[in-house]
Order: sequence, then C-alpha cells, then structure tokens
Amino acid sequence: MKNIMNGMPETALSWVEVSRAALRHNIRLFRDLIGPRREFMAVVKANAYGHGIGEVAQVAIENGVDWLGVNSLEEGLALRRLGVAAPILVLGYVPLEGLEDAVAGGLRFIVYNPETVEKAAAVAKRAKKEARLHIKLETGTHRQGITEKQLLPFVRRIRKHPGLVLEGLTSHFANIEDTTNFEYPRRQLDAYKAAVARLRAEGIVFPYKHMSCTAAAMLFPETYFNLVRVGIGLYGLWPSKETFLSCKLRKRRPLALKPALAWKTRIAQVKVIPKGAFVGYGGTYRTTRRTLLAVIPVGYYDGYGRSLSNSSHVLIGGRRAAVVGRVAMDFLMADVTDIPGVGLEDEAVLIGKSGKEQITAGTLAALAGTIAYEIVARINPEIPRIVV
Ligand SMILES: Cc1ncc(COP(=O)(O)O)c(C=O)c1O
Repeated sequence: MKNIMNGMPETALSWVEVSRAALRHNIRLFRDLIGPRREFMAVVKANAYGHGIGEVAQVAIENGVDWLGVNSLEEGLALRRLGVAAPILVLGYVPLEGLEDAVAGGLRFIVYNPETVEKAAAVAKRAKKEARLHIKLETGTHRQGITEKQLLPFVRRIRKHPGLVLEGLTSHFANIEDTTNFEYPRRQLDAYKAAVARLRAEGIVFPYKHMSCTAAAMLFPETYFNLVRVGIGLYGLWPSKETFLSCKLRKRRPLALKPALAWKTRIAQVKVIPKGAFVGYGGTYRTTRRTLLAVIPVGYYDGYGRSLSNSSHVLIGGRRAAVVGRVAMDFLMADVTDIPGVGLEDEAVLIGKSGKEQITAGTLAALAGTIAYEIVARINPEIPRIVV
C-alpha cells in the first residue's frame, strides 16, 4: 500500500483535505434553495467548522457567496489580511477594546450592549468611518441579544450617532436542529416578525433581516428574509438526524449534500503484539488473539476525541480497522490484523472515504455522544488544510 500525499508537507502527521468540488456543490444547493435575489452568508467561524477559514472563504467567494460570518474580531481581521473584500459580519462578541480594529477593518458586528454602541460611535467619529451594526434580538435562545421591549430605545440610541449605520436585525433559533417539533422555532419566528412589524410602524426598517441557519434554510423558506446564514450545510454535513427526518416528514426533498472534509494521517508503527496484551492507557483493551497493531500519530490534542476510545474505526486501504484502547493525547492504536499488507506510513483515513468505506463526522459524533459540528470544529487548527 502506498501513501498519497497530494503535495502535503512531507512531515505532517495528519492533514485535512477540503474538496473544492464538494463545497461548490453544497453552495449551489443552498443558492438554488434561497434563490438569486436573497443574499447568502457562508458561516466560516471556528476555522470554517474546522475546514480552514482562508481556504473556505476563498472558495465561497469564488462561488457567489455574498457574506462571510465569523465569530470573532480576529477571524474577521484574518480574512481581511487575506484580501477578502466581501462583507464580513462578526456574529460573536467584540470586546470594547476591539471596536477600533473592527471599524478600521470594515467589519460589521452584532450589538446588544449600550456600551458597545457608545464606544462604536466614538470610534467611528474619531476614525471618520462608518460602523455597521446588526442588532441581535432575543426571541427565546437566551444567548446574545436584547428583548423586544428594549429594541426601540436601543434603535433610537444607535440612530443618534451619525457614524453608526443600523444595517440589520437578526435572531437565532434555539431548537430547530434537535427536534421534529417546530413549535418553539415558530414562536421565535413570530416574535421576530412582530418586532420587525412594530419597528416598521415606527418608520424603522432594517436593510438586512436574517434568522435562518442551515436547518431553517432546509425546512422553512419563511425564515429567509433577505439574508440566509448557512454553516454546517455548506460543509456537506446535516445539522442532525432530526433535520433529515423533518425534511422527509415535510415532503421536502433532502439536499444531496457532499461532505467536503477528509482527515488523513499515516501509520507511525506496525507491530505484532501477543494474545492477552493490554493496549494503551488504563489497559482498557486486551487482545483476544495475536494482533497486528497500527500506531497512529493522532490523538485528542489533534481533535480526535478521547470519547472515541475503543469505539471508532479508521480506514486503511479501503478496510476498517477498529480503534483499540484509549485515544491518547497524540496517539491512537488500531487493530489491522485482518488487513493484508499494512506498512509503515501507509495512509489512514480518520474522516472520509477509502475504497468503498466511509467514515463521516456524523458517525464519529454518534459514537462520541456529540454532534458533527463539534467533531469537525475541534480538529486542531494547526493541522494543515489543503484544498483538493
Ligand atoms: C448566529 C449563528 N448564525 C448561524 C449559524 C449557522 O448555523 P448552522 O451551522 O446550523 O447553519 C450559527 C452557528 O452556530 C450561529 O451561531
């Protein structure tokens, strides 16, 4: 068996391959869904859900995405340094001390604190620049945001400052991925619409209204308004089984998403260990036969969760090899006894395809008791990403 390194640094212990074709395909699916007139935000926070923020941003822009959504000031500025000129909205919290850089970098940001508004106004005035703000409305997630009652005074506070541009009103669903019962998101949507109507009656309109994430985009066109924020779906992953099931129940054809990410490594050692030998920390696995063991140089520091100990598989030469023993900080071990011809530095696929076999982020998530979002977002950002 031979390694296929695709031009990777030859010393990388593991690497992430991101398929440009898959990203493009997924972007097109969502573009078809939301139509050409609404604007499309690719959510590239958390290092583009582990896929590599610079790489994904570039492919997204090339394929007609209008906006990029990040979590932090640093992510937004990093994109600007890479030459990204598209509108960037910081979806997370911008510390007061960071507002100057946010305004200088032309980043839009979410507001819900009066302190942020006042500081942004002072910064914009001093810099003779505009600060573009999107208010986050609390509709039931109880994360970032202000209540409907606080909205009108908050808008008035913003409008007092000539350097502040009130560009958007946004909210976020709390329970749209994890359920097939959409009563709660409907209540959130109704609350959002009521707030929009109330402000319209006061003569206040928002250039951008946005509330939709992937699951909402898949299931509820009434959540689109004029800007749709797509994260997980862009990467070819389903938000949840419930979202897939809900598409079926609601007679909406499930999107033919293509996972964009493959995570690969190479075997660090192949060795025979006797029957009855313990493998790894804690002796949680004991061989029941003479075993051919592959030592794989990836562990929980890399983002391969310890909760996958003794439960997941890796793919080697198109065959499944069970992960045996505890996943350590930098290593895991796999039983390759039944795979012929395994050698040093052969490729092992942690997520992705090999021959006819495939391991998805969803499969690992189910084994680890988490969601696909966490599996990909946790892949250590230091691991090289290449677009293939
Ligand atoms: C505010 C906000 N908008 C949009 C998204 C995208 O969600 P999804 O990845 O489910 O499309 C997220 C993700 O958590 C988010 O926090």
